[in-house]
Amino acid sequence: MTRQKSKTILDLQLMKERGEKITVLTAYDYPLARIMDQAGIDVVLVGDSAGSVVAGYDNTLPVTMDEMLYHTRAVVRAVQQAVIVADMPFLSYQVSLEEARRNAGRLVKEGGAHAVKLEWGDAIAETVRAIVAMDIPVVGHIGLTPQSIHRMGGYRVQGRKQDQAERLMRDARAVADAGAFALVLEGIPATLAAQISLELAIPTIGIGAGPDCDGQVLVIHDILGLCEKYSPKFVKRFADVSGTVRQGVDDYIREVKGGVFPGPEHSF
Ligand code: KIV
Repeated sequence: MTRQKSKTILDLQLMKERGEKITVLTAYDYPLARIMDQAGIDVVLVGDSAGSVVAGYDNTLPVTMDEMLYHTRAVVRAVQQAVIVADMPFLSYQVSLEEARRNAGRLVKEGGAHAVKLEWGDAIAETVRAIVAMDIPVVGHIGLTPQSIHRMGGYRVQGRKQDQAERLMRDARAVADAGAFALVLEGIPATLAAQISLELAIPTIGIGAGPDCDGQVLVIHDILGLCEKYSPKFVKRFADVSGTVRQGVDDYIREVKGGVFPGPEHSF
């Protein structure tokens, strides 16, 4: 197989300028990261959604820096051509600029990520600026920010009311002005996402934010039907991997119980 050229954050900017959609999927381990990289995904996001879909927590808040480093390293070993963005987990960037800088640096130095992602809007503009000043590229994330689950009172669409929409527009500008190279728009009305995407010079990546964002991101477990815990409206299931795994495990159990496996061809 010929090795594809590695993409960079500059390519993502050019894609926005050309009107070419940017594809992003989450990954947390070597095998899935390898498959999506070979398929030509533009960006692999090592999301803190690992807390929900891999570790089985109720939300992303318990995820630690050590867990994010573990997942990031596994993904980095698999990816040859995509841009790798690692999420900064809750409490790794909120307490002080110094902690934020150190933890962003760890995801790049120890994890091998190309960029980091932070949630919230203008409240973290200074943090974005501080990390960008270390030459670490930053992706912002506004709207339905899962680390704010308790403030939002659940996973709810944000920005439906005029004043909330104006607030999100201000957040988007603040994060872009602070130097973020891309912005995730999660769980906001499609018209608002279209407006933000038109106004910002940097690419927007939507999840539950309609078709007019510059790119789309989804959680890999959701699109493969690997995690039935919850299935928001914005998810499209592209495969039924749970069904395939279940079939394989059922067959294994049946064959071992029935003395069919291992056969002579599997024995020494
Ligand atoms: O953690 C995550 O997977 C994310 C995406 C869903 C945007 O932040």
